[in-house]
Amino acid sequence: MPLLAARDLHLALPDRSARPLFGRPPLTPILKGIDLVLEPGESLGIVGESGSGKTSLGHALLRLLEPTGGTLLFEGRDITHLPEPQLRPLREGMQFIFQDPLSSLNPRHRVEDILAQPLLAFLRVKTRKEARIRARELLERVHLPAAFATRYPHELSGGQRQRVGIARAIALKPRVIVADEIVSGLDVSTQAQILLLLKELKREDALIFISHDLSVVRVLCDRVLVLQQGAVVEQGPCGQIFARPQHPYTRALLSAIPLPDPETGWIDRDDLPVEVRP
Ligand SMILES: Nc1ncnc2c1ncn2[C@@H]1O[C@H](COP(=O)(O)OP(=O)(O)OP(=O)(O)O)[C@@H](O)[C@H]1O
Ligand SMILES: [Mg+2]
Repeated sequence: MPLLAARDLHLALPDRSARPLFGRPPLTPILKGIDLVLEPGESLGIVGESGSGKTSLGHALLRLLEPTGGTLLFEGRDITHLPEPQLRPLREGMQFIFQDPLSSLNPRHRVEDILAQPLLAFLRVKTRKEARIRARELLERVHLPAAFATRYPHELSGGQRQRVGIARAIALKPRVIVADEIVSGLDVSTQAQILLLLKELKREDALIFISHDLSVVRVLCDRVLVLQQGAVVEQGPCGQIFARPQHPYTRALLSAIPLPDPETGWIDRDDLPVEVRP
């Protein structure tokens, strides 16, 4: 059974540019008939130019936004319009990692409390003490020193913060993680370390990796889906799409980015610091 499946998924949002004096603003279509299937353990890249609907699709797939048409199945269950109280127990199985960890991590909380919060909220631990022990285990999984537990988000580097974001996302052992542009804004070697970490973790969970950087999708993902103006123009195994893109839009996206040779295995480089090697 697929982990996640979208059939003819549509999403329309209120048009922010139109502000009528009375009544609701008109809806503007954002996603137009998306079909996709995500199998357990699989990683799917979502690519497309800015404004093509990648983030909106990620939000819709995890029901952070409610679709306005079509069907969304999570582990075979129809969650398209499932109300929040019924959705809540499923939420621990689906996690979203945001692009900017500084704005998604509470600046007034120490790292250990940030990591303890989902564990306590979903009753995975009984006491605060137990939660703090688990928080340190999570730091270890993302290769951060246990001493970071008592730091605040602003006391970490961008890459370290993103590791905390990943640690928080994996705390509840989700079935699927959506990572939205999580390496943009980091320098190339930090990017490689974060990608290496994701590669290591994705063996257990299914991953949806949103990126405008096709070279990154190519090394990390099994399959790729290309979005243009809210619709899928092409999807399939990375090897196939990158070797023989069928759609002119995909070809244009590919030609815009110098791709490293995937055979060189640049992500598995051994010149990375020891603590981030698998
Ligand atoms: N809350 C909203 N209300 C109305 N329109 C929105 C909303 N959020 C996004 N949009 C519009 O939906 C379209 C898709 O936006 P989205 O953020 O999903 O694109 P994206 O592919 O993630 O872009 P980027 O690469 O810049 O992050 C855009 O035209 C955007 O203006
Ligand atoms: Mg986006």
